[in-house]
Amino acid sequence: MTVMVTGGAGYIGSHMVWELLDNDEDVVVVDNLVTGFEWSIPKGVTFVKADIGDQEAIEQVLREHKVDAIVHFAGSVVVPESLEDPLKYYQNNTGNSRNLIAAAVKSGVKRFIFSSTAAVYGEPLTTGPIAENAILNPMSPYGTSKLMTELMIRDTALAHELDYVILRYFNVAGCDLKGRTGQSTAGATHLIKVACEAAAGKRPMMKVFGTDYDTEDGSCIRDFIHVNDLVNAHYVALNFLRNGGRKFTANCGYSQGYSVLDVIDAVKRVSGNDFRVVKTDRRAGDIPALTANSNRLQTRLNWEPKHNDLDVIVASALEWEKKLLNMRKSA
Ligand code: UFG
Repeated sequence: MTVMVTGGAGYIGSHMVWELLDNDEDVVVVDNLVTGFEWSIPKGVTFVKADIGDQEAIEQVLREHKVDAIVHFAGSVVVPESLEDPLKYYQNNTGNSRNLIAAAVKSGVKRFIFSSTAAVYGEPLTTGPIAENAILNPMSPYGTSKLMTELMIRDTALAHELDYVILRYFNVAGCDLKGRTGQSTAGATHLIKVACEAAAGKRPMMKVFGTDYDTEDGSCIRDFIHVNDLVNAHYVALNFLRNGGRKFTANCGYSQGYSVLDVIDAVKRVSGNDFRVVKTDRRAGDIPALTANSNRLQTRLNWEPKHNDLDVIVASALEWEKKLLNMRKSA
């Protein structure tokens, strides 16, 4: 039984590969290396350079490696970019996923885990943590492209033998606590990564996009989940499917909100570096506050968060920045 990880050379995917190896699973990574890094794939893991939109290539991998479950991460992930280039998102996240799902159906792979996002909710109509049964009203092509894939999976499961888990991530951050992989994305835009790059001296300063929101300190609020906890949720989901689970959709977060300014304070405190921060206008597509109600994941799959601590998240992200700097020096 082999698990195929799409996007396994990317940030979250590479952490999933380690989670699977730690649990003695056989893994095949499929990645087109557009944003991923081949060096991030652990030695001994089978790697196929292919695009998930290439249905024939994927069918071949599924057959050759006797894949019995797919964990699907490959895709584009930047909300503002999706507003500028929506068709890229509908291609990479929706069109290509369609072909991957078709390959799974044609090859008889019955277990599918999909990396979705809190962006499917859009701006919540209520305050406080948001539950899975909230209205789905994405406000960016990124969110819509992921919601469309959720619906494709749901409809395919009604017509074919396909069991699935859809996980809606809130703000994923931090890096492997054993230091084996991390977030290496070039030109990163995500808050904790950007702040850690500023702390490590890779950027002269960073910006805060908007301090006039209706929140306590005026900056946006997000729910940051440590990537090791997130990939463990996928492993728990895989076992749910192996034990006969048929369909399940859940939020992944800690139900704890931190503001952008809180996060920057944490990065300054943990790193000991007081980097320059400039307050600027709001960024298009940002939602003022978004936190997860994660009861469903905890009660139905018995998932237990182990690293629910902003300082732990930040410290692991800073460690990885140092590693990247050393890698560049020795390259
Ligand atoms: N931010 C800054 N400065 C930066 C980077 C980010 O102020 O340099 C702010 C943003 O404006 C936003 C917050 O930090 O208010 C978080 O922004 P990110 O870009 O880190 O993440 P997003 O919240 O836009 O996106 C993330 C995930 C999506 C998910 C979404 C839900 O990447 O998958 O959260 O809102 F859908």
